[in-house]
Amino acid sequence: MSNNKDYKRYTVTAALPYANGPLHIGHLAGCYLPADIYVRYLRNKGEDVAFICGSDEHGVAITLKARKEGITPKELVDKYHAIIEKSFSDFGISFDIYSRTTDPLHYKTAQDFFLVLLENNALSKHVSQQFFDSEANIFLADRYIQGTCPNCSFDKAYGDQCENCGKSLDPKDLINPKSTISGSEPTLRDTEHYYLKLNDYQDFLTEWLNGDKTSSWKSNVLGQSRSWLNQGLQERSVTRDLDWGVPVPLENAKGKVMYVWLDAPIGYISNTIQWAKENNKNWEDYWKKEDTKLVQFIGKDNIVFHCIIFPTMLKAHGDYILPTNVPANEFLNIEGNKVSTSRNWAVWLHEYLIDFPESQDVLRYVLTSIAPETKDSDFTWADFQSKNNNELVAILGNFANRLFVLTEKNFNAQIPSANELSNNELELKKIVAEYPSKINNLIENFKFREAQSELMNLARVGNKYLTDNEPWKTIKTNIEEAKTCLFFGFQILAELTLLMEPFLPHTSQKLKKSLNIKQNIAKGELNLLSENTPIVNPGLLFTKIEDSTITEQIEKLNKSLAVSTQEQSSYQPLKSEIQYDDFAKIDLRAGIITAAQKVPKADKLLQLSIDLGFEKRTILSGIAENFEPENIIGKKVVVVANLAPRKMRGIMSEGMILMAENKEGKLEFVQWDGENLEGGIVS
Ligand code: 2FM
Ligand code: ZN
Repeated sequence: MSNNKDYKRYTVTAALPYANGPLHIGHLAGCYLPADIYVRYLRNKGEDVAFICGSDEHGVAITLKARKEGITPKELVDKYHAIIEKSFSDFGISFDIYSRTTDPLHYKTAQDFFLVLLENNALSKHVSQQFFDSEANIFLADRYIQGTCPNCSFDKAYGDQCENCGKSLDPKDLINPKSTISGSEPTLRDTEHYYLKLNDYQDFLTEWLNGDKTSSWKSNVLGQSRSWLNQGLQERSVTRDLDWGVPVPLENAKGKVMYVWLDAPIGYISNTIQWAKENNKNWEDYWKKEDTKLVQFIGKDNIVFHCIIFPTMLKAHGDYILPTNVPANEFLNIEGNKVSTSRNWAVWLHEYLIDFPESQDVLRYVLTSIAPETKDSDFTWADFQSKNNNELVAILGNFANRLFVLTEKNFNAQIPSANELSNNELELKKIVAEYPSKINNLIENFKFREAQSELMNLARVGNKYLTDNEPWKTIKTNIEEAKTCLFFGFQILAELTLLMEPFLPHTSQKLKKSLNIKQNIAKGELNLLSENTPIVNPGLLFTKIEDSTITEQIEKLNKSLAVSTQEQSSYQPLKSEIQYDDFAKIDLRAGIITAAQKVPKADKLLQLSIDLGFEKRTILSGIAENFEPENIIGKKVVVVANLAPRKMRGIMSEGMILMAENKEGKLEFVQWDGENLEGGIVS
């Protein structure tokens, strides 16, 4: 089944997002936009597609967040499921179903699946030791245990990972482990769990991931999967002692639930079953027939679950097809930094729509243009503005607007008739004819970024055609030529309207209405519109974004980071806002400490000699308890050089050196790098 022509239907899934927070642009760029583009393209072609998603509502991430918000896990997922579902719909992510893993149908599907795995000998059961909180009377998930990291001594490392040094941990490695629920010291207790025997599937997976069926997969996906295989697969526990999750459907497993990563991918199947029920389809066709193409869109952090664990589950269950492709994206950073929801370094979809109403397609366009298809990429507000102003407004929008305005004004809002074709138009026909297949091939190969860039190239062709032929001038000198130009201009716009649908569905919809287009397939033949078709000017498709709007967004990002930092730590709150002029009054200079000594009878003060290049200064600094004088000679420091001199202990201090203090009160010099900068302005 190597050729798409052999597939009778498509099951396209997008990773089920955790319902523990709203969606941000990283979600869209990493998974949901590419999936949506792919599905819209298939639907336009008339393919039979089921586009499946839903909220992932179990797991410790959910229970932890609920505890933090002081609500139950169910209340938490109800709240975020609604917010997430709305964002998807606002941005035109066109799932055929968006369900949730707390749905009773999912419980039944997941439990049945579990029982089949058990029956097929894919699960083993044995006792292990796990931490137990005897005050709260529960076994503790790894995330509920905190202690000191054996690697870096960070005292708030979690049982599964130290967030300071990044090391993966086993809770038993923690020094001084504490339950985050009661604060008490947990003790190890025996508990029995079920394990997926991944090791039994090592050969099957190796053959599959090294064979023909996966040979065209992205190298990041194959690379990560093979690296797991090379390490040798081990059995993996798939049940938990928790009260939030799908209960293990066995008498002797009371109080145990399925591990979230066991139940979540089964959610793809449950949601398909529900969709099939509601749409009079046979769900099994979409999961069990070899002529179904299963494509699973995910972010790179989900690769092992979709390429090792879920295929093992499908194979072990029997009857199921395996994914035909798992086109995982890398991560999207924002303004050079990793997205961090806890630090609020994110652009939230629901907030974006408040700040940029009706501008879903702008964000879709920009995110697709920087989609992290092969490596991590960076979203910046400046680039967002530039792509909106220089591409969407100046090329695509301008092209459409010129056609509509000229035709409305001069030709009674009807598509003018074309005259004989000049060499110009013959050439144009050849160029345009190549675009549909070029764009379609790129989409088929999951190269959405390049596909969209070709779409904009076609808009450039159209825009240039107008600019070169100047119908606004020829209307007065050679009306037939002007009419031909507008006729062909509209034909290009019509091709664009259809080709843009997967990328810019809202804009495409508007144009389809304006041009009264009923077809869905663009063939590049420049014959989608007939002469005299009435058109309705849709108005400006895109509007320019001003610098001030972008500055506001950047400030908002920085501000939310500052606020969240204050909320989450014991850092000093920020002082009240100052204007640039206030800051500009301070003259900061680079200096070097050339000598240092204690000040008699002053425990805290050091007397420093500072070389500022153009002069030497004596500065008293309250750092004597933190540094020995002999250890700081040669430090490259930053000096407030225009601070009024002040006498202390009979010594005149001529400035101040800058220090940084961490939240435990530890002091460090603010230093500069490089050579020969003494006296230089620090700004
Ligand atoms: O990483 C995540 O957001 C997970 N909730 C993805 C689950 S994908 C699937 F298996 F359901
Ligand atoms: Zn650490």
